[in-house]
Amino acid sequence: MSMQEQIASLKVDIAAQIAAADSLAALEDVRVATLGKKGSVSGLMKGLGGMSPDERKVMGPALNGLKVQVSDDIAARKSVLETAELEARLSQERVDVSLPVMEHASGSIHPNSQVMDEIAEIFANLGFDVAEGPDIESDFHNFTALNIPEEHPARQDHDTFYLKPDENGERKVLRTHTSPVQIRTMMSKEPPIRIIAPGRTYRSDSDATHTPMFHQVEGLVIDKDTHLGHLKGTLEAFLKAFFEVDAVTLRLRPSYFPFTEPSMEVDVQCSFDGGTVKIGDGNDWLEILGSGMVNPRVLVHCNLDPNVYQGFAFGCGIDRLAMLKYGMNDLRAFFDSDLRWLRHYGFRALDLPTLAGGLST
Ligand code: DAH
Repeated sequence: MSMQEQIASLKVDIAAQIAAADSLAALEDVRVATLGKKGSVSGLMKGLGGMSPDERKVMGPALNGLKVQVSDDIAARKSVLETAELEARLSQERVDVSLPVMEHASGSIHPNSQVMDEIAEIFANLGFDVAEGPDIESDFHNFTALNIPEEHPARQDHDTFYLKPDENGERKVLRTHTSPVQIRTMMSKEPPIRIIAPGRTYRSDSDATHTPMFHQVEGLVIDKDTHLGHLKGTLEAFLKAFFEVDAVTLRLRPSYFPFTEPSMEVDVQCSFDGGTVKIGDGNDWLEILGSGMVNPRVLVHCNLDPNVYQGFAFGCGIDRLAMLKYGMNDLRAFFDSDLRWLRHYGFRALDLPTLAGGLST
């Protein structure tokens, strides 16, 4: 076979191989076998050196033509294969966004998380930020700064879990309420302050309405002209939105908390007719939270001048709110992780509560 015939047959041969390569890897094999260092085309090119000038004049362009042809064919095939590979991947990784997700998802949102989201949504609309603090708290933040010194009888009310003293003799506590977040916020932020602090709290107590770990939400507003009317208005707006009723009637009862002065407990008007609680009207009252104007002594502990600043605070059990709103009567079930309970009382995972779209629908 003459050299020219050899080139022609190689051309046909290689073109067939390129067309037959059905993956990028197979195409790469063809490239190495032809244009690679030891490839067939490269082998022929090497032969040019041993030819007479006349032969080379003919064979040079012929071989070069072969080489250019092969590399063009490979490039063209490569782009076809790459497109096909991308198409395949795209169709394989396709997500059908129109599929009804909840038919496949078995998880649900715990009523507690739902209620915390609802509360955060309501207060966000009133201009409140969400603040956080640690569950393992110092004695100072949990008690002393809140005007509950060592010898104060209120310490006994809290059934506190104490940790072992550290190397400095300091005994940390599992926070007995969310009020220490007030202290942390006032010590780290300049007024005006508007925060809520939802979170876990702990007391050594257990019955149908108490569990050793439970949840509270704290509210705190500090500014230069904050008064009791603001507190009442805020609580009314909150409770109305939370219970999704047009109006609530509140009763503010004088009470005592070391960290507020004056202090009051807040009841909402309700009815227990038919065995269920209905918030908004009726002949009964339901105690729902503690509140008051921040005690000047607490402001001083946080390096705020009580002659310039004052504010209000409130604290409320989240689990209790959830029980009232969604009709559970045993708090202990909240933390049993019983799937039947969670399926019954849980909320759809993708339905975030919004005031515009409805908190619990
Ligand atoms: N920390 C109180 C408790 O756990 C609740 C409370 C009452 C918080 C009055 C407040 C408040 O901020 O002003 O019982």
